[in-house]
Amino acid sequence: MIRPLLLSLCIATLLVACANHEKPPAESGDSVRDSMPMAFVAPDTSTIPVGKVGDMIRYGRELIVNTPLYLGPKGSVGKYAGNLLACTSCHLDAGTRPYGLSLISSHARYPQYRMREARILSLGERVNNCIERPLNGRPIPMDSKEMNAILMYMKWLAKGIPVDGRVPGDDLMKMPLLDRAADPAKGKLVYDQHCVRCHGDDGQGILAAEGTKYTYPPLWGPNSYQPGSSMHRLIKAAQFIKYNMPQDLARWDKPVLTDEEAYDVAAYVNDDELHTRPPVPPEAPNYPIAKERPIDFYLGPFADPFSSKQHKFGPYKEIFAWRKQHGHPTGY
Ligand code: HEC
Ligand code: HEC
Repeated sequence: MIRPLLLSLCIATLLVACANHEKPPAESGDSVRDSMPMAFVAPDTSTIPVGKVGDMIRYGRELIVNTPLYLGPKGSVGKYAGNLLACTSCHLDAGTRPYGLSLISSHARYPQYRMREARILSLGERVNNCIERPLNGRPIPMDSKEMNAILMYMKWLAKGIPVDGRVPGDDLMKMPLLDRAADPAKGKLVYDQHCVRCHGDDGQGILAAEGTKYTYPPLWGPNSYQPGSSMHRLIKAAQFIKYNMPQDLARWDKPVLTDEEAYDVAAYVNDDELHTRPPVPPEAPNYPIAKERPIDFYLGPFADPFSSKQHKFGPYKEIFAWRKQHGHPTGY
């Protein structure tokens, strides 16, 4: 009983009070980090209620953790995902890891306007976006038990977070933009030093012994995410990688890579000249309003004068400044 009470109390007394109070070591000159020194503590799974509601929440969590067993190419429920990635391959710790693509407050922030589709999307539609792009699949029915279970789990995660509320760690950690373009050749050196031992020489990861899911997921190739998935965007990928990879050593409060290493390795992983990915279906929406394309999206047309290459690898500061000056969205 203590836990839910604590949670709502924390929310009432300002989200800051919910922080786990480990303060990361200050890095000189890193004012972005200094201003976000906390993380929200996710509810413990032992607080999932017993009974029908709890069973659905638990099933939703199971779908997030062991996605391919149910929704993968040989999934027991149906073939929806086109690869063996799990939601938790990116939404770490079943969507509860601070700054690890946390899903903790998502339920409180949808429906919301999405630039990729240029319309309002429900949370269920947003879930299907990830099944279509990163999982290279087709949408699960909105009224299915599986969709309801995933939404029930996310609702449970967001318990007590007010509508449109945010908590520390529910977003990726911000990073300063580099003054130069990210460099895939330098990124390969970072990859060889810090990533190869799990994701492999060829970036194809390692399957678990039974062959139905990954121990280490692939980072490119036919079994990885499509171009245009958010992980394919340089800044997002760098933010994820810096504060979460190498997976056994890095955490939001003790990153291993420098900013430059994170940008460079993100550029290497996502370089479409070096690595292939499954194609985006031609009918998929891709930011129909040109000025709403994120500054790190790989494909034009853009409503600003910068090349696709500069959008893909940077440098970004001048794009950001131009857009700000012209009143265009500056999101990334
Ligand atoms: C290859 C990595 C990857 C995989 C696998 C993946 N996602 Fe995502 N997902 C992302 C990224 C990146 C974002 C964008 C986050 C952002 O904009 O900061 C995202 C966003 C989301 C959001 C919106 C979060 C919010 O609060 O706005 C939801 C919901 C979501 N994913 C659910 C899922 C589910 C459910 C699965 C499994 C079926 C899944 N994702 C699989 C990378 C992935
Ligand atoms: C100790 C093993 C290990 C190392 C080293 C490691 N990773 Fe990972 N990585 C993982 C695991 C495991 C996951 C899936 C998340 C999970 O299961 O917790 C993952 C997930 C990812 C993902 C998202 C999922 C996907 O398939 O796209 C990316 C991107 C990624 N790693 C990049 C990197 C980069 C870049 C490096 C080097 C800087 C790196 N990783 C080093 C184990 C590792």
